Amino acid sequence: MDELNGKRILLGITGGIAAYKAAELVRLLKKQGADIRVVMTSSAEEFISPVTLQALSDNPVHTSMWDQTISNGMPHIELSRDCNLILIAPATADFIAKISIGRADDLLSTLCLARDCSLIVAPAMNKQMWENPSTQRNIRSLKEDGIDLIGPDSGEQACGEQGLGRMREPDVIVSELLSWFQPKILQGKNVVITAGPTYEAIDAVRGITNASSGKMGYAVAQAAHDAGANVSLISGKTNLIAPPGVRLISAISAQNMMDAVLNEVDHADIFISVAAVADFSVKNPSKHKIKKTEQKLNIEFNETPDILKTVAKRKNAPFCVGFAAESKDVENYARKKRLEKGIPLIAANLVTEALNSDINSLILIDDDGSKTLPPSSKLSQARMLIDHISSLTQ
Ligand code: PMT
Repeated sequence: MDELNGKRILLGITGGIAAYKAAELVRLLKKQGADIRVVMTSSAEEFISPVTLQALSDNPVHTSMWDQTISNGMPHIELSRDCNLILIAPATADFIAKISIGRADDLLSTLCLARDCSLIVAPAMNKQMWENPSTQRNIRSLKEDGIDLIGPDSGEQACGEQGLGRMREPDVIVSELLSWFQPKILQGKNVVITAGPTYEAIDAVRGITNASSGKMGYAVAQAAHDAGANVSLISGKTNLIAPPGVRLISAISAQNMMDAVLNEVDHADIFISVAAVADFSVKNPSKHKIKKTEQKLNIEFNETPDILKTVAKRKNAPFCVGFAAESKDVENYARKKRLEKGIPLIAANLVTEALNSDINSLILIDDDGSKTLPPSSKLSQARMLIDHISSLTQ
């Protein structure tokens, strides 16, 4: 929970009703270890008190260009130095217009103009204001100037209307910032990832599957995307939503997954096989629901294709990473599996702990030996895995 340790963020709050959400945003950013400095416009003070933000941020809140508490008397310079980022949340249409043309008529707009760090804005306004051609023109200008946007979202607005313009929720802003801060160690790489379970039909309504939730594979997709990769995520049936920016391809059976992987893998630099793929499929699945009869039901099985092994054997194969879920003697079995599949890296985990849980502990095994990662969230494990893959593919 301290992914923003050592990061200093200047949070600019402008005058919209979403300003009340800035309090929660400060709390969540602090929880991630960030050092937060708050600067408010005078209209923002109409919506939320600086005292609240001062208490939550543990730092004085600045509102004026003529702030005598800044030692050199130049708050517009002083406050943005040593910052990793200026985040404006909420950013009103008026404030966006101001920074799109480089106006500097209050402390926050002057800080934006005088900054030597990145700037991200989280717009918040009524949908008509958002859709207005002048706002859209201003947004294009911001993007051209290299300013990033978080949101806006669609939904019910404070004025009662429905539409695009709501500020993203504070927890979503924080997770987007966590992504934004990740080092781009896989910039421009094409990464194909499989995730989740496969399903082998027995008849029209029944089938054989497993308890993989897809959480580990989706976390790897998120981490690869955050590291700057172009990610294709080939997934069995899960209840998860693909991380924004990741291309999701659905696959039901092991054969479907194999076909989808072979379609994608030609241009892949890295292939990460997290899916729990069935080793057997039903030989002749019935098109109709099998009726209960006196006769014994016999099901014949075929072996499914080994997707990972097939990809690893290809000429010009991408860097292949396997996963091994074992119920005992994890490292030993995984070592054997790595050699048997002919892959440079395998991530082993204890199936009873890894399956459908939020926490995992991977053992990374490669030519140089093994490294056990301390237990943490699947996203944090995935980030460490991506880091390791990047070091092996440099
Ligand atoms: O989805 P979660 O609930 O988050 O759980 C995550 C997980 C436990 C499923 C995941 O961390 C994991 O360990 N995935 C691998 C599951 C497994 O048992 O793999 P395996 O030992 O059957 O296969 C070894 C490797 O070959 C895997 O990379 C697998 O994707 C691949 N394989 C296996 C069979 C097959 N026919 N084709 C394959 O490509």
